[in-house]
Amino acid sequence: MIYQRLGKSGLKLSKLSFGSWVTFGTQVQVHDAEKLISCAYERGVNFFDNAEVYSHGLSEEVMGNALANLKLARDTYCVSSKVFWGGDKPTQMGLHKKHVFEACHAALKRLRVDYLDLYFCHRPDVDTPTEETVRAMHDLIQQGKVLYWGTSEWSAQQITEAYQVAREWKLTPPTMEQPEYNLFNRKKVEGDYLPLFENFGLGTTIWSPLASGILTGKYNNGIPQDSRVTLPGYEWLKSRIFPEGSQEKIEKVKAFCVLAQEIKVSPAQLAIAWCAHNPNVSTVILGASKVTQLEENLAAIEALPKITPDVVKRIEAIFENKPDAPVDFKDS
Ligand SMILES: NC(=O)c1ccc[n+]([C@@H]2O[C@H](COP(=O)([O-])OP(=O)(O)OC[C@H]3O[C@@H](n4cnc5c(N)ncnc54)[C@H](OP(=O)(O)O)[C@@H]3O)[C@@H](O)[C@H]2O)c1
Repeated sequence: MIYQRLGKSGLKLSKLSFGSWVTFGTQVQVHDAEKLISCAYERGVNFFDNAEVYSHGLSEEVMGNALANLKLARDTYCVSSKVFWGGDKPTQMGLHKKHVFEACHAALKRLRVDYLDLYFCHRPDVDTPTEETVRAMHDLIQQGKVLYWGTSEWSAQQITEAYQVAREWKLTPPTMEQPEYNLFNRKKVEGDYLPLFENFGLGTTIWSPLASGILTGKYNNGIPQDSRVTLPGYEWLKSRIFPEGSQEKIEKVKAFCVLAQEIKVSPAQLAIAWCAHNPNVSTVILGASKVTQLEENLAAIEALPKITPDVVKRIEAIFENKPDAPVDFKDS
């Protein structure tokens, strides 16, 4: 495993980390979660990602029970939560002080830990002044309940405002952002955020390196029965991954699979190594519903030397760097 600083902070995260969206609490229960977490931990993963909204809190419960059953030393791993969607009532959602505090306490209980290493604002909240949210995060840090706070899918302008507010009021600024980053979605990480990396030393914990699995090639000949897009309640994800005209997307993946075969790595490993190769990516959060997938994906670290300038050029030629149209979604 390779370890990299989370932005300009001193915290070194494993370049590949592991998250539980869709899987824990839905496809994976505690017994299999233990196997997945062990598999990652034994291979050097030290960051496990979660959110209050994942499986409506069940994902954090499953992860908390798995971590406790495995008896991993608390000072050897980091765990996160994210706040935004905690329920349907106005007090249960958004980034106002009440929900930020209550969501943190609920996550601590579900994850069975005394503090969160990383705590993210899962989306921007236009109804709450940035100062209120920055202050709420700062207070949690002062209380020892959170170590580092960050954002997820905020615009460069919104993150800059958070820094400015923190500077003005001598509060703790965000350390990291959690954006989507994969071969179909590159705009924020490779464009919008560049001044933030340069000026603030922002770290990134990027999500969906396989674009929900498409980049493995598993959808090249149709939709496999046990894949995430077949899950009840995830029909919206299916239409996001396969929008109208998505055959063009599949054709690109097919060409990508041919390249992967030529350089003797799996498409999943090539897609993950390509993300990890970007120095502004602090950690690539992997997702896996099965241990065999996770083993394959974690071996992407060994594929890093295969990301040569020639291979990068050939990948560029396949994907032509045209990002998907931005469609936001609630990653519950
Ligand atoms: N901040 C945010 O808004 C946000 C949003 C989304 C995710 N995240 C975080 O990022 C993490 C990773 O995102 P993601 O799960 O979308 O990552 P991903 O790597 O794009 O997709 C993972 C899924 O692809 C399939 N897969 C993975 N490896 C495979 C392999 N080798 N062969 C075949 N299929 C494979 C599995 O789904 P099936 O087996 O079910 O097909 C797996 O669950 C999440 O767990 C979460 O922690 C954050």
